[in-house]
Amino acid sequence: MTSSTAIQRTLALIKPDAVNRATEIEKTIGEEGFTIVERRTVKLNKSEAEQFYEEHTGKPFFESLIEYMTAGEVLAFILSREEAVAHWRKVLGPTKVSVARQDAPSSLRARFGDPDNDSHNGTHGSDAVASAQREIKFFFPDLTLDAALTGEGAKEY
Ligand code: PPS
Repeated sequence: MTSSTAIQRTLALIKPDAVNRATEIEKTIGEEGFTIVERRTVKLNKSEAEQFYEEHTGKPFFESLIEYMTAGEVLAFILSREEAVAHWRKVLGPTKVSVARQDAPSSLRARFGDPDNDSHNGTHGSDAVASAQREIKFFFPDLTLDAALTGEGAKEY
């Protein structure tokens, strides 16, 4: 297998305001060729949310992001397929709901983001393989190394 068709794993989140649409989102996950390797329901506290989004510490939106992500339970998934990281980001669409609705109307953020709040985009995906490894370990710290791997070393099960 070449690196251009590597089986990868990525971390997907359904954010609090979209949890009630999880069935529809999971249907799209399957239609897009992903296997759900693991799933977990998590209620993040403030400290955990700040740790997960630590790269955004100090940005103008940081406090509202933490408030949003701690407002209710989130659903965390490890997804697997070829080029999972990039493909899941494509399925998500642009970060801002208004941009997603304009430029990628079939994307998850266009369909399940809050049209009245540009930042409440309903879903998350790791932005790189290294981020996926960190984020998978964050939400699934008890998994064995093999289960948390991304890239060509990942075992399918
Ligand atoms: S940056 O500065 O370009 O890296 O930021 P960006 O990639 O656009 O967004 C990073 C995450 O912050 C969320 N975000 C917000 N949340 C709440 N309120 C506001 N105003 C806001 N702006 C950005 C954005 O949805 C990203 O979260 P994830 O979970 O990665 O989608």
